[in-house]
Amino acid sequence: MQKIVGIGLLGCGTVGSAVAAGLVENADAITRRTGVRCELRGIATRRSNNARAIVDDPGVDIVIEAIGGIDDAAELVERALDRGRHVITANKDLIATQGPRLIALAAARGVGLRYEAAACSAIPVVRTILDALAGDRILSVAGVVNGTTTSILSAMEDGAEYDEALAESQRLGFAESDPANDVEGVDAAHKLALLLQLAFESAVISPRIRRRGIAGITQRDVARAVERGYRIRLVAAASRTSNGAFAEVGPVLVAADHPFARTRGVENVVRIDARDAGTLLLSGLGAGGAASASPILGDLVTLLREPKSTMPRFEPAIEIAPLHDGLQRLDELPEYPLWDDSLLNPVEQALR
Ligand code: HSE
Repeated sequence: MQKIVGIGLLGCGTVGSAVAAGLVENADAITRRTGVRCELRGIATRRSNNARAIVDDPGVDIVIEAIGGIDDAAELVERALDRGRHVITANKDLIATQGPRLIALAAARGVGLRYEAAACSAIPVVRTILDALAGDRILSVAGVVNGTTTSILSAMEDGAEYDEALAESQRLGFAESDPANDVEGVDAAHKLALLLQLAFESAVISPRIRRRGIAGITQRDVARAVERGYRIRLVAAASRTSNGAFAEVGPVLVAADHPFARTRGVENVVRIDARDAGTLLLSGLGAGGAASASPILGDLVTLLREPKSTMPRFEPAIEIAPLHDGLQRLDELPEYPLWDDSLLNPVEQALR
């Protein structure tokens, strides 16, 4: 007889509703790929106040968390893990601030915790670090990981004003519910912390990373950068040192032909430098309902195939120093450091 697995879905916004649709559309494919039939046992919406009941339902084996935010999500994810449910989450705020603790809890309860969608939505960067590069040593992770800021900056290059470009990003559903998190670099710092935890196997949380956002960038700054052959992009980067890591999120000037500069709209690009594999570049959709549902369903299939898959055991948090202090500046645009790829392929140096 076919095995049946119960799914509880927390959240029915942009991501949650796309997951619900994806579960229906891909039901046969998921069964073909896993031998398991998934049944959606409940959907918690913001208004229904039924999230705890779904987590507690003995018929729910896997909880998919797409409610976002930290406090309620942390309580629900912890409750689910405690009750022996596997958890898939798209919540970078949660993983960036409490990931190491939740991963340890999942390991203690013998269940899976997966979060591919939390990093860069459709770009499989978590799998690349955890699986493809598991036999290597990652030296750096960097990229353009916030679609809202790239949408704003690329629209400004086409002549739009800042406010109008931000409103468009909100309209398309790419911005966070509080878009200050996007434009102030909080979202990018969360994603960088999440990637840094996995790449350097260290319990670093996002408040330890220095960040600056793009609020205050003017049409004049954007136009001057373009005239001089650069683009302004919010770059998140972390580079390993012999005794810690450099890490920072901030707007930088990137040469116009550089992959970071060529991002537009909600496209993200992530560069990983590894000792043996060399430089990898991954790019794709970094936001949106369908682009997040795809990796969530991918995590679901992986969990159904290997429920016992292990996560790394994190070392205590390493020392983190800002990355941009040593970078050059242009006289005409002194507030933006000039991006330099050599930061990403370090002959491992000690922290300055
Ligand atoms: N607000 C995020 C962004 C959504 O703009 O990239 C995806 O994490």
